[in-house]
Order: sequence, then structure tokens, then C-alpha cells
Amino acid sequence: MFEISCLSKSFGEKKVLKKLSLKVRDKGVVVTGDIGTGKTTLFEILSGEDREYEGFFTKFDSSRIGYLVQNNEEIFFHNTVREELSESSDKGIFKLKDLLEFFNIDKKILDTDPFELPRSLQKIISIIITITQDKDLFLLDEPDSSLSLDILIKISNLLKELSKERVVFIISHSNFFIDMLDFDLVRLGKNGDWCLEKA
Ligand SMILES: Nc1ncnc2c1ncn2[C@@H]1O[C@H](COP(=O)(O)OP(=O)(O)OP(=O)(O)O)[C@@H](O)[C@H]1O
Ligand SMILES: [Mg+2]
Repeated sequence: MFEISCLSKSFGEKKVLKKLSLKVRDKGVVVTGDIGTGKTTLFEILSGEDREYEGFFTKFDSSRIGYLVQNNEEIFFHNTVREELSESSDKGIFKLKDLLEFFNIDKKILDTDPFELPRSLQKIISIIITITQDKDLFLLDEPDSSLSLDILIKISNLLKELSKERVVFIISHSNFFIDMLDFDLVRLGKNGDWCLEKA
């Protein structure tokens, strides 16, 4: 079981998380809330990138964590889509070949610079790379941004499947996507306030 207990974080005088506590059982978790309420900060702590916090949470080795960051400039590292896709693993829950078919990815794009693709396709490719990895904890920060409803339905189905076997945290602002996922829902508010809105 994945557990967060009394997790607090401040930047100077500014409280961003105040004694956040949560138990993840058999479903994933969606973290939502207004801009600047600490969603990404929470993921940076859970991923191990940010070690300045108070409280506790279940630790995974960094090699067991798949983290899709919010910032689109930081989602690709190679010159071609083909090289990016080679980062995927054949030991994960999903197979790369199956997901490329599932999203109707045209093979013609394989030799393209990933940053030259339309924003929506960039997002789909980055999600595919993340969820084909063999990880125990998945953190996806706004995977839904710039995607159409039919794609969101497809992604929510994959994430639901993933959450049956691995711990999955999603940050989202989209009520449609949140409803589709039907995960536990944590809403972050101002000054570190939070509430478990659905469990
Ligand atoms: N390194 C930092 N130093 C100081 N303040 C920071 C730092 N990182 C984040 N903050 C502040 O902490 C608050 C939470 O930021 P965070 O990026 O976690 O918000 P968010 O909920 O992810 O917002 P968004 O919906 O825009 O992605 C913001 O007020 C932000 O300005
Ligand atoms: Mg954020």
C-alpha cells in the first residue's frame, strides 16, 4: 500500500502543503486544484527530486518511478521519435507495439524531431513512453493537456488498467478526464489546505 502521512512543504513563509495524508488502496489518485496550489510540488517530493519537506510517504527507488513532467520542454531528450520510443521497456504492463496501434500512430513520424510534432501528438508519445515503462509508481503531471475527448477516453482506460497493478498518481484540471478516471480525488487549496473529495 502507498501511504502519505502528514506531508508538509513551505517555500519560505509560503505554505504549499499542510499535513497531507492519504492511503492509496486499489485505485489510482487524481490530484486537482487551482493554479499554484502545490500539485507539481507534491509530485516533485514523491518522485524524490525535492527532499525538503516534513512528513512521510512510501519510498520507491528512483529507478522504479515513472514521472511525466508538466513542462512540455522537458518531455523529450532525443533527436527522433524512434529514439524516444526506444526508452520504453518490454517488461511493462503495456507493449509499445500495442499502444502505437491503439493510438493509430503513423510510422512516418518515427524519424521526426519529437518537438516538431503537433502538441497533442507530443503528449500522446510522451504518455506512451511513460506507461510502457516497468515501474512501480507512476506520476503523470497534466497528461490531459491539449488532448481531444476521444483520446482522453483512451488514455483514461489505459491508466485505469495500469492502476490495478501499480500505484498511479495523475494531476488534472479536467473534470471530464477526472470523471472518466474515477480514481480517488484529492483537491489542493490555498495555503496548503487540502481535502479528500472522493475515495
Ligand atoms: N522553487 C520554488 N521556490 C519558491 N516557490 C515555489 C517554487 N516552486 C513552486 N513554488 C510556488 O509554490 C506554489 C505551488 O507551485 P506548483 O508548481 O506546485 O503549483 P501547481 O499546483 O502545480 O500549479 P499549476 O496548476 O499551475 O501547475 C506556487 O505558488 C509556486 O509559485
Ligand atoms: Mg503544476
